[in-house]
Amino acid sequence: MSEEIRIKINGQMHGFQLGRDLAPTTTLAFLLREKLGYTGLKVACDQGACGSCTVLLDGKAALSCMLLAVQADGHEIVTIEGLPKGDPVVEAFAQQCEPGYGTALQCGICTPGFVMSATALLDEKPAPTLPEIKEALSGHICRCGCYAGIAQAVQHAAEKRAEIRAETRAETRAETRAETRAETRAETRAETRAEKGSKS
Ligand code: FES
Ligand code: FES
Repeated sequence: MSEEIRIKINGQMHGFQLGRDLAPTTTLAFLLREKLGYTGLKVACDQGACGSCTVLLDGKAALSCMLLAVQADGHEIVTIEGLPKGDPVVEAFAQQCEPGYGTALQCGICTPGFVMSATALLDEKPAPTLPEIKEALSGHICRCGCYAGIAQAVQHAAEKRAEIRAETRAETRAETRAETRAETRAETRAETRAEKGSKS
């Protein structure tokens, strides 16, 4: 058996020979953690019941313990290691600490899974309501009981992402205006030179 499986993982294309690099029964979670070292995702229940092994599969939250690696052939996977530095969702989980809500993490075992599901939610729905957040995260278990803090962290992440989008739009508009002004000045100078040339 020598079929090649190709999976894009955290932006990098990987090729695996079925039978040599992985077995037909190898789970995606095992491939990511044990073969490739993406240990951010956790395998806690290994039966689809806790959410701690969640990754993004083509942008959607997916339980990597319930997927065979071969099922990811031709798809794109993002683990928590693939999120950019300073990611607003990661930051919101790390910074969450509010009276009445508490922190978004204690032992941290469940955190990467929650972060990936929250990322998929905010990518699809940038300003979710609290019930929508709870629904999106309902497949996750936090044994430390940080549910209130986690929901707050997702709301703060949504606000931060909205701020970043507004800043990016403002910067783009400012750059466009500056380019337009520079082009207008260049055109005016060219016209002035042309006029002077025609008079002399
Ligand atoms: S380890 Fe995959 S759902 Fe629990
Ligand atoms: S922070 Fe410990 S299981 Fe969630």
